[in-house]
Order: sequence, then C-alpha cells, then structure tokens
Amino acid sequence: MKQSKVFAHRGASQYAPENTLEAFRLAMEQGAEGIELDVHLSADGELVVIHDETLERTTNGTGLVKEHTLAQLQALRADNHMEGFEAAHIPTLRQVLELVRPGDMQVNIELKTGILWYEGIEKKTLELVKELGMQDRVVYSSFNHYSIEEVRRLDPTAETAYLFSDVIFEVEKYAARRGVKGLHPALWHVKMADFLTDYLQSGLAVRVWTVNRPEDMRLLMERGMDAVITNDPALALQVRAEL
Ligand code: G3P
Ligand code: CA
Repeated sequence: MKQSKVFAHRGASQYAPENTLEAFRLAMEQGAEGIELDVHLSADGELVVIHDETLERTTNGTGLVKEHTLAQLQALRADNHMEGFEAAHIPTLRQVLELVRPGDMQVNIELKTGILWYEGIEKKTLELVKELGMQDRVVYSSFNHYSIEEVRRLDPTAETAYLFSDVIFEVEKYAARRGVKGLHPALWHVKMADFLTDYLQSGLAVRVWTVNRPEDMRLLMERGMDAVITNDPALALQVRAEL
C-alpha cells in the first residue's frame, strides 16, 4: 500500500494560528511532509500568506487584503483569536518558504484567485520559488483553473493541481489533457468512492482536503491517496503509524 503523505493545512492550524510562521514551524516540528498555504497580493504587489480576501476573521484589521500595503498588513496581529499567539503576523510567501527551505518539506501553494483576480500573481510566485531553488518541492493549486493554466504557460515543468469542491465530470481526463498532474478534491468525495477510484487509476496525485477526523484519515490512507491535507498533522501521523 502506498503511504499517504501528511500535509499541514494552513500549517498545523489546529494548534497555532493558520497561515502564520508559528503554524508552519509547528507543522515541521510535528513531522508533516508538506504544508498547504494560501497566497494573495498586497496593494504594493507583495505575495502574502493569508486565507481570506478580507482581514476580519483572522486578524485585528478590516477590509480587503489587496487594499493594504505589506507594511500595513504586517503591522496587524494574525493570532486568529488564539490565546498565546499575540505575536503572530501575516507572513510573506518568502518568509514561509525561507522557513521551510532547509528541510525537504513539500509546499502546496494555493493561488487565491478564485474570488478576486490578482494580476501577475502566478509570475511573481513562480519567480520567487525559482529564486529560492524550490521548484522541485512546490505544487501549485487553485480553484481558478485559468490560474493553473497561466502557471503552466509560464513554466510547463511546474507541478500543478486542480482544486475542486463540486464534481467535475471526468476531471482526471481534463487534467491529464492539460498536463496537470494533481487532483485536490474536497473531503466529501470520500462518499463517492468510485470517483476516488477514477482519480487514483488515472495516475494523478490525489491530495484530499480538509481531513481532520481520524476515521476519514484512515479511510483515505488505506485507499492510497497521495496525501491527506489536515489541520492536525500530529493526529494524521499517529493514525498512519497505526495502520
Ligand atoms: O487547498 C486545499 C484547501 O485549502 C482549499 O480550500 O478554503 O481551505 O483554501 P480552502
Ligand atoms: Ca487553501
């Protein structure tokens, strides 16, 4: 049986504020093989790591991320209302990549272009990854498949994956035809076992999100998914060790 990798969703976000250096550091300490993170552009064109288009849920700021400069964003607290993490801030993508670069962790960069369009985000992200020499460790994903198309246009060797929540008819054929090597379906696809079988049989890398219950982790690991993307990497690693 193929061993599923454990990817920390927004870092070890069960234990530390999502998408912060604290959460990514903890994911490394817990032994996750990968991290997943979300990227937006600031008003002055910097790549920043935060999930929402807006600041209210996870920081003490208000309004759109894209209407704030990097300096304004980094002055905010990004503790996501978690006690003991008052020093947590919105990191840049560079800061996160530099943090994990010394190891061999994989990095799933989700381009958050599904709701707002960030002109040039794909090019900037690819250039940064290349500058840091991490091309072989990064998988680019997005709900916006045009963004993935742009990544592939800029660098046909970049590893890419389609994110999707709803069923897309024969998505594995559509992905293979476009040179996309990964499928990132939402967890509820476990209820449609035949779809998962199709995905796996296609030979594409299947990484399922967001898998936080041990019974779901077990099921997906037993089915040989390439990765489970979870808020709780420590739990997933424990489940995997007990298989
Ligand atoms: O990349 C998997 C997952 O993170 C996609 O959904 O909303 O958590 O970014 P979301
Ligand atoms: Ca995400």
